[in-house]
Amino acid sequence: MALDAWKSMTSFLDDEEQGLSGWLDGLSERLQAGLTEAMETGGPSAQAAKDFLNGTWLGHPLHPALVFLPLGAWSTAAVLDVLGEQRAADASIGLGILSSLPTAAAGLAQWHDIQSKPRRVGMAHALLNTIALGCYAGSWAARAAGHRKLGISLSTLGLGTTGVSGYLGGELAYNLGVGVSRTAWSTEVEGASPAISEFQVAAPASSLVEGELSAGEIEVDGQKIPLVLLKRGNQVLALNGTCTHAGGPLAEGKLVDGDCVQCPWHGSIFNMHDGTVVQSPATAPQPHFEARVRDGNVEVRAVREG
Ligand code: FES
Repeated sequence: MALDAWKSMTSFLDDEEQGLSGWLDGLSERLQAGLTEAMETGGPSAQAAKDFLNGTWLGHPLHPALVFLPLGAWSTAAVLDVLGEQRAADASIGLGILSSLPTAAAGLAQWHDIQSKPRRVGMAHALLNTIALGCYAGSWAARAAGHRKLGISLSTLGLGTTGVSGYLGGELAYNLGVGVSRTAWSTEVEGASPAISEFQVAAPASSLVEGELSAGEIEVDGQKIPLVLLKRGNQVLALNGTCTHAGGPLAEGKLVDGDCVQCPWHGSIFNMHDGTVVQSPATAPQPHFEARVRDGNVEVRAVREG
């Protein structure tokens, strides 16, 4: 019952026409435009920072991996307050405040490239976290000034706000799929399906143009899988054509930096040779295939490791 009531309270985020949703959308547009401008001004250094914060080096988003730091510290502080361990509780509050800053930066980097309802939910999540951080900063100051009761009240309010915000974080990841690789369930990943262990036709060889991206398609276990193909001399390079970030069509992207494909939606860059991520917001590599030309067709199969 309580959960149903809570879910109906948050359902306003579904409706773009409602006042608060519209306000969140407007705020999100302005903040995303500001971030885009900062990225353009910052050039390659800003992109490198964004790649790091997105978690490209980690292979999945960095934000959820950092969240445990402030949440753990603040939860520990609540327990220590109950036990009367004042100095340790205050130290935990401070640790939580400090660790919330890189956690927020990683969340902001990830949020920069999402749209519609996920962007709105992400903005509500960020605003609640900002309120929680304000509560903890106030708690820290109150504790330092000797106002212990006020400090504990503020940290308790911050913990409750963090819990509500955590629900929205879960909504983003588990119901809206933000940060989940769009090829996570593709049957060709790691040669998971016997149907792709043998070569199968992906496109007529005549559709390939030297040094240009083109589209192909295979069918695995009844599921159509788009491909992006690149001809380099006698070699054909092939990746899954659905961008792992949010499903952008890679065959409609650009060829950049030699043999890399740039997604047309948010600019992720993947190496056509092995699918590795060269530039975020994608964090998961693009599944890649072994490809050859036979009897006038491009054929592909899962890469056999080793
Ligand atoms: S869908 Fe976002 S970068 Fe490809």
